[in-house]
Amino acid sequence: MAPVKVSASILSADFAHLLEDSQKAVAAGADMLHMDVMDGHFVPNISFGAPVIAGLKGKINVPFDSHLMITDPNKYIPDFAKAGSAYILFHEEAVADAAATIKLIRENGCKPGMVINPGTSEETLKPFAKDLEYVLFMSVWPGFSGQSFIPDVVPKIAKFSKWVSQQNLSMYIAVDGGISPKTAPQVVEAGANLLIAATAIFKSPDMKESIHLMKNAGTKN
Ligand code: DX5
Ligand code: ZN
Repeated sequence: MAPVKVSASILSADFAHLLEDSQKAVAAGADMLHMDVMDGHFVPNISFGAPVIAGLKGKINVPFDSHLMITDPNKYIPDFAKAGSAYILFHEEAVADAAATIKLIRENGCKPGMVINPGTSEETLKPFAKDLEYVLFMSVWPGFSGQSFIPDVVPKIAKFSKWVSQQNLSMYIAVDGGISPKTAPQVVEAGANLLIAATAIFKSPDMKESIHLMKNAGTKN
């Protein structure tokens, strides 16, 4: 099975020591840093915006994937691009014209990713898949870290990843929400190749071990 990557969501980091915590996650094996941006409208919580991401720019040697859980993401894409995002992830549910948002992300020099909530079908992703570098399946309703994994996402990932191989496409198939060494094997088995985790990394007593277990979730031993 192809190697699995892990993106560490800073939502569960200690914001008083954000740089140190982020560097620790990377030293422990995180391949990306996941930025959960929440506006209190699209989701019922407020987290942080582009200035916080910009504060880490140039100080961390892995790409940033910025997950925009905001109403009207198009308006803020230039800000998140300037802040140092390599990938900008938008919710299908937040935009009227996904193709236009994908184009805007590329025009701003970033790689586009499309996110679907637990209630949205994987079919929604298909018309855009050839233009995407990254698709993200939410396995919790977005808004908070520390929620329980919703297993209904597994068959969606399985159907989509099978279709992706049939189409000879290649992209990150990511999953976000309640991912841990315990829940990782079933999503990797279904075809996910990028795991996003906040609690299982930043609240783990052994960050390195936790990341190692998630990256090797596809290896049977
Ligand atoms: C949820 C966020 C997730 C969240 C994951 O709205 O998009 O990235 O931080 O947190 P855990 O890993 O604790 O479920
Ligand atoms: Zn996220």
